[in-house]
Amino acid sequence: MTILVTGARGTVSAGLLRHLAGTGADVRIASSAPRPDQSLLDLHDPATFSAALEGVSQVFLYTNAATAADFACAAAAAGVRHVVLLSSNAVTTVADPDVNPMAAPFSAAETALSAGPVPVTVLRPGSFASNARQWVYGIRAERAVDLPYPDARVDAVDEADVAEVAYRALTDPGLWGATLDLTGPDAVSLVEQIRILAAVLGEEIGVNRVTREQWKRSVNRYMTSEYADALLDYWRALEIHPAPVSTAVATVTGRPATGFRTWVERNVGMFR
Ligand SMILES: NC(=O)c1ccc[n+]([C@@H]2O[C@H](COP(=O)([O-])OP(=O)(O)OC[C@H]3O[C@@H](n4cnc5c(N)ncnc54)[C@H](OP(=O)(O)O)[C@@H]3O)[C@@H](O)[C@H]2O)c1
Repeated sequence: MTILVTGARGTVSAGLLRHLAGTGADVRIASSAPRPDQSLLDLHDPATFSAALEGVSQVFLYTNAATAADFACAAAAAGVRHVVLLSSNAVTTVADPDVNPMAAPFSAAETALSAGPVPVTVLRPGSFASNARQWVYGIRAERAVDLPYPDARVDAVDEADVAEVAYRALTDPGLWGATLDLTGPDAVSLVEQIRILAAVLGEEIGVNRVTREQWKRSVNRYMTSEYADALLDYWRALEIHPAPVSTAVATVTGRPATGFRTWVERNVGMFR
């Protein structure tokens, strides 16, 4: 009953591995850049799938749309009984999810995996609370953050909550085949997130309202112009209608979803 955890270097997989440690579960840890005690599984390279999947009964899988169909075939051939896919709730929160770059890879991967014979539990997190990391440079360098849509109310989910739900999905057969929208307990505006960060840090943090073009120029090394436009459109929409909030984290874990303030208190070191 080996559980294969892909993406060993990722935040969610690291949290999941902490939950699995000490449970007695037989865990195989895989990465595209494995350490000596880990297995090679490069989601860009289907040739790496069958060896990583040998003897595996369940998989925690990061999304790769281009190879999802190959992965579904390889998992079925290996006798895998259940896959937990880390997707995104963008597939339901943006318009035209099959073409919108925030959603299309997840939509395609969900479709490809669901078309295979292996049951899939789909985790659809909202905006990770850790997206706040993008503000570290501005906070450290200028005590200010540039925001194009400061009043966008996002569903900030703690990635540790996502990891705990992944653990429950692997260990509770009652969740097999479920689709779970994972959000924080409430929708918090980006400017309110900055206020919370400032309060926990005990320092002032300014907010500069910037234009879409200014913001796009500041991120052009990290994302395509199409992706930046999709994200800007998403935030613009969230200034009018806050991101929907789900109760799935509480239902699955039996405790409330972690709020943004608690996430900051646990992770404040990264902002100093
Ligand atoms: N940020 C958000 O707001 C948000 C919202 C919804 C969904 N998501 C999705 O959540 C995922 C990010 O999760 P995270 O924060 O845990 O990851 P992360 O810390 O950003 O690390 C990236 C992950 O991708 C894996 N990866 C990259 N290339 C790979 C490859 N060729 N083969 C296998 N694995 C590969 C890495 O594993 P190795 O390097 O070990 O191979 C690592 O686990 C992404 O799919 C993202 O789109 C994010």
